[in-house]
Amino acid sequence: MGYVFTRDDVAYLVSAAGKAALAEANGFALTATSLLEDLTRLRRDHGERAPILAETVRLRRRAAVKLDGAGQWLFTDDALQQATPTAVARHRAERLAGRVVHDVTCSIGAELAALHPVCPQVIGSDLDDVRLAMAAHNLATMAAHPVRNVLLARADALAPCSGAEVVIADPARRADGRRTHDPARLQPPLPALMAAYPGRDLVVKCAPGLDFDGFVPRRPGAGTEDPVARPNRRNGRPGAATDMPQWEGEVEVVSLDGAVREACLWPAALSDFGVTRRASVLRSEGESWTLTDAEPDDIDHRPPGEWIVDPDGAVVRAGLVRHYAAKHGLWQLDPHIAYLTGDRVPEGVRGLRILDRLEFREKSLRAELLRRDCGPLEILARGVDVDPDALRKRLKPRGTEPLSLVITRIGRTPTVFLCRTPAVR
Ligand SMILES: C[S@@+](CC[C@H](N)C(=O)[O-])C[C@H]1O[C@@H](n2cnc3c(N)ncnc32)[C@H](O)[C@@H]1O
Repeated sequence: MGYVFTRDDVAYLVSAAGKAALAEANGFALTATSLLEDLTRLRRDHGERAPILAETVRLRRRAAVKLDGAGQWLFTDDALQQATPTAVARHRAERLAGRVVHDVTCSIGAELAALHPVCPQVIGSDLDDVRLAMAAHNLATMAAHPVRNVLLARADALAPCSGAEVVIADPARRADGRRTHDPARLQPPLPALMAAYPGRDLVVKCAPGLDFDGFVPRRPGAGTEDPVARPNRRNGRPGAATDMPQWEGEVEVVSLDGAVREACLWPAALSDFGVTRRASVLRSEGESWTLTDAEPDDIDHRPPGEWIVDPDGAVVRAGLVRHYAAKHGLWQLDPHIAYLTGDRVPEGVRGLRILDRLEFREKSLRAELLRRDCGPLEILARGVDVDPDALRKRLKPRGTEPLSLVITRIGRTPTVFLCRTPAVR
């Protein structure tokens, strides 16, 4: 949970004395092993302020991989964990460019920082006045885009207090100290937010584990829930959407550098005609792209091709596996499993070249891996009850050749594809 900052702490940290003390603290390693000794030395000059100096420097270092320009920002540990990564916030802000936007759960201002350069007027509010004070400081450090168009206020998101064209919310996912995927237990709860802004353009950022198929209808004619898109219930993430009012609009599942970061609910008025599911695949390096359920999803059913392609998690979670396949000339290994196959690999994607197709029997697999001098062994499993780490230990690959196993089922038959592990094309 980290140190509990107060308004007085923030006032000190933004003062000239606080800034000088932070610069000094930044000279310390502040690692797990050095922390006690570093704190003792910091206490000599800064007394009781030492813990907030150490904590702030440590949080700034952690923030560097997530937030642009956060080297001067203030955070709490929770607020940093909850903050939207800059690349994701900018992606959302691009969709809102030119509009007056009110972020009703603005926390330390990660979304505001992306919104204010592209929106004429931005309002940020939150219940937590320490976070608001941090947001005010954080926005003021943004030299590239001096902040003249942001208004901050302490307010309850459930009591609308502005006439902004668009309201965005990012409810906290912890209830009673535990992570929740139940929309009714978010803070503020999703049904209450929807009730508070009837007829308004409300955008809500949610966790990707949210069971949105339970309350965001898919395109008419799209059939029932795509079985490959369901959250993994074995991981204890039931994502129950109990008594949720229906959401009219789109779910956008966003991944960043291969990790699924969020499922964002968009109102129909801010979406494209007929779109109810969108996958946005963001990359720090290389091209980002988007796919929607308004695109074709007609694919052939054919025997496996030369390659296996594991689509990005955003595509899988958004239920757009067939759309992705149709776009890239691929087809499914099995209609209920998200692995794709084809004779070519899409640009920028890591494909696995199929060397052999085997029965899932450990003894013969071990013999085959030995025969091929298999060393580093990657195991991908979907649709079968396999623990890759435990299986790798039992298969004992001790050679030099890096290989991959894709273990899945085709129809009801567990099947193994032995693959070469090439680099991204
Ligand atoms: C997940 S954080 C938002 C993070 C933010 N989007 C960012 O990128 O930094 C959720 C925030 O909602 C605030 N919050 C919870 N309930 C609220 C309510 N009823 N009204 C206003 N803010 C609320 C919390 O104080 C917290 O700062």
